Amino acid sequence: MASPCRLRLLFLGLLVSHLGSLGYYKAYGITVETDNAHVTAREFEGAYLNCKHNAKKQENARIEWKKVMGSDVSFVYFQGSFVGSFKGRAEILHSSIQIHNVTRKDSGRYRCEISAPSEHGQEAGEIEISLIVFVQPAAPICEVPISAMSGTAVELRCKENEGVPASKYRWYRNGILLLENPAPWKVKKDRIHYTMNTTSGTLLFNPVSKNDTGEYYCEADNKIGQPQKCPVKRMQVDDLNVSGIIAAVVIVALIMASCGLGVYYAQKKGYFSRRNSSVRKKTSKYKTKAHEKDFKHTKSFII
Ligand SMILES: *[C@@H]1O[C@H](CO)[C@@H](O)[C@H](O)[C@H]1NC(C)=O
Ligand SMILES: *[C@@H]1O[C@H](CO)[C@@H](O)[C@H](O)[C@H]1NC(C)=O
Ligand SMILES: *[C@@H]1O[C@H](CO)[C@@H](O)[C@H](O)[C@H]1NC(C)=O
Repeated sequence: MASPCRLRLLFLGLLVSHLGSLGYYKAYGITVETDNAHVTAREFEGAYLNCKHNAKKQENARIEWKKVMGSDVSFVYFQGSFVGSFKGRAEILHSSIQIHNVTRKDSGRYRCEISAPSEHGQEAGEIEISLIVFVQPAAPICEVPISAMSGTAVELRCKENEGVPASKYRWYRNGILLLENPAPWKVKKDRIHYTMNTTSGTLLFNPVSKNDTGEYYCEADNKIGQPQKCPVKRMQVDDLNVSGIIAAVVIVALIMASCGLGVYYAQKKGYFSRRNSSVRKKTSKYKTKAHEKDFKHTKSFII
């Protein structure tokens, strides 16, 4: 019995408030104000949304809070109680609300609506308050090439997507912070040739040199909670020569491997069976020669 009744009331309330939002309360006689129209709060902490009004008979005033998301409007506080996800974690203080444990999903615009009966019929007023929930950064993902050739352009990337406000990024090499704008004399002395964008998280070496070899990591920080870092990754920068040598070694190895394969197949097909005799002959010849040599050698030794 109770639920259909409550449903009807809810429907009536929705209808009335909808009419209200369309401007049916002709006499906007109530002044609604706030101490703070731009509230910020850290995630999992409290947020206070202040709303004051001058309705003559405070006890008759109807207070409603709504969350506005684009064209979507949902109830926060309706008919004396909190609704949906706000149930059990918020309280009303006169016409203001205190949310005890905000999450990132609570960010948005809130509307405090006051209406009250008066001699001229219904009076109403409203005010909008924005809430931004600050979220600490997640551990960033870093992209660092394992190896690079000196003289080329190399970009290291760092990114995380949870931080509110958006994180700034810092890069470290061998545990030492890389300055965003190193002093000009240092740039000259140490031949620094990188560009760091602390907003996008990129570290561009153009060109990269052997000296840039090292262990890199990045830190994301938005001043909310602790800065977060990615695991350390090593970048090895080599000269072209070394790479060339490695390439040559690989090519030689490939040639040798293919030769080996050729010999294997030739042997398998019996190409060597006929030649074996000549090989044997050569060996015997060599043996005799070696013998002569030994002989000569002994001779000379005697002399
Ligand atoms: C706040 O909410 C989060 C997630 O909704 C929960 O994990 C946390 O325990 C809550 N903290 C408090 C103090 O209630
Ligand atoms: C840094 O990156 C951001 C975002 O990608 C970009 O808007 C900005 O222009 C960059 N700054 C510099 C100095 O290049
Ligand atoms: C590499 O760094 C050392 C000192 O850190 C410096 O003396 C040398 O000139 C640098 N070489 C290049 C190619 O930048």
